[in-house]
Amino acid sequence: GPNGHLRPEGAPVTVIAHRGASSAAPENTMYAQEVGRRAGADLIENDVQLSKDGVPYLMHDNTVDRTTDGTGDITTLTSAQLDRLDAGSWFAPSFAGARVPTLARQLADLRTRGGDLLLEVKRAHSREEVAAMIDVVRAERMTDRVFVQSFSRDHLRWVHELAPELPLGLLVGTLDADPVAVAEELHLSSYNPSGGALDTRPGIVADLHEAGVATMVWTIDSAAQWKRYDGYGVDAVITNRPAELVGWNQAR
Ligand code: G3P
Ligand code: CA
Repeated sequence: GPNGHLRPEGAPVTVIAHRGASSAAPENTMYAQEVGRRAGADLIENDVQLSKDGVPYLMHDNTVDRTTDGTGDITTLTSAQLDRLDAGSWFAPSFAGARVPTLARQLADLRTRGGDLLLEVKRAHSREEVAAMIDVVRAERMTDRVFVQSFSRDHLRWVHELAPELPLGLLVGTLDADPVAVAEELHLSSYNPSGGALDTRPGIVADLHEAGVATMVWTIDSAAQWKRYDGYGVDAVITNRPAELVGWNQAR
């Protein structure tokens, strides 16, 4: 499960399917989730935001323009409007009719079929909005299979107050001067830098390990890069190509 986040000695990296298997299916849809799950990904990563009427949905961008046949900022659209959108045709005609899933639907599916979630709390949400997401995780009885990440330190502080049992990851595009101190302050289970950020100081992986904190690196899609980050000792790799990374792990 996602609570066992540290990579055991000699074990392969944990495979995290970015927005689902988003190289093979439309991101943040049930198709992407299913392809990622079948590929053998250990976790599915998805981005979560609230609709106008306060329902958590999977959506990366602030607007629905790029990944659906609709337009507008997701916070201006009701769940009734979101439920009518086609989130598959933009990717390929064979995915026509794919829906924008609610977080509840996704969690119910993972609970039934298996799989853990790396839930990214996207954009700036209020404490109450973050609480609405936690409520869904609780209602779906998935608190033991969800790992929360965010670029927002406020989001992580609120999740810790609301649900201290949920493991937390901080996303960073630039390393903090002292990642271990930040991890301790925010109660992190994992520190999650971009690949480029980690390249500036790979030694933080060992420092974090000494403090019992994992490293999840994003978003890494080529074998040359998998080899490099594996060599740094990272615990998990977030990738758009989970099937290929699972295969690479097996051949390694
Ligand atoms: O999981 C890391 C990654 O998802 C953060 O960036 O823009 O793809 O959500 P983004
Ligand atoms: Ca994300």
